[in-house]
Amino acid sequence: MRNVCDRMSKTTHRADPNHTEIQWSKYAEHYDQMCENNPSYTEMIELVVSNALDRDLPRTSQVLDIGAGTGNLISSMAPHKPDWNFVHLDFDQGMNLKAKEKYLQQNIKNVSILQQSAEDSSFTEGSFDLILTTNAIYSIPGHEALMEKIHSWLHPKGTLIAVDFGRPQNTTDWMIYIAKNLVKTKGIRKTAKIFRDNWEAAKQNRRTTEAQDQGNYWVHDSSEFQNALEKAGFSVEKNSMCYRGYSDLAICTKTLHSL
Ligand SMILES: C[S@@+](CC[C@H](N)C(=O)[O-])C[C@H]1O[C@@H](n2cnc3c(N)ncnc32)[C@H](O)[C@@H]1O
Repeated sequence: MRNVCDRMSKTTHRADPNHTEIQWSKYAEHYDQMCENNPSYTEMIELVVSNALDRDLPRTSQVLDIGAGTGNLISSMAPHKPDWNFVHLDFDQGMNLKAKEKYLQQNIKNVSILQQSAEDSSFTEGSFDLILTTNAIYSIPGHEALMEKIHSWLHPKGTLIAVDFGRPQNTTDWMIYIAKNLVKTKGIRKTAKIFRDNWEAAKQNRRTTEAQDQGNYWVHDSSEFQNALEKAGFSVEKNSMCYRGYSDLAICTKTLHSL
């Protein structure tokens, strides 16, 4: 079993002043607070965990989470599967530091953090029994090439569970949704304070809209998502929506001709 943190020294960023991107390390400071107050986020994580646990996978499965962020998915799944080995892949140091803290705090030892960009990563063909990714593909340049890579990294009998944020980001809609939920549980004063303290998250969400408008982030509907997966060689067993209809969730295997 590997360490919680194997390779956290290398960060890869694309610095193109003409393209807006989310500033992930700034977002990382507020990410979990935003997630805690967003019931649709918790539902999405629970949905991925329950679908993953339902799969018939080897006892000692190798699992890759692409764009693993602050580690919420792995930290929800790992306690159920102490014999699985998780690889947390994310290029952002801020996100990875939050994840590392979380894994240490929760005594999750069967995870290694890999700090590198997904599009520049390479793994041995067929080396993962389960590949997961939640709301990251849209922001990774070259989703078609990435999907082909994911296909090659997956074991012939493996499963890909991919959630992706494909619809136009509407920050006001999200703020109203989160505020309504918060007011119910915490009251108006606390809600106002949470919004003040985490204004950076809203700023970063606005950058998503800008990046989408510039064509820098992938905007897709369910069928475009499914088509892209099929083009990469996947067979899509299930395709549904989650995250208030902003994201697609696809459960995929390798198609027979690729076995
Ligand atoms: C919206 S967050 C989702 C995080 C996590 N999967 C979750 O659901 O909470 C997207 C994550 O993808 C990572 N990411 C974005 N582009 C990436 C790339 N090119 N390579 C690796 N990670 C990337 C970001 O650093 C960020 O942590």
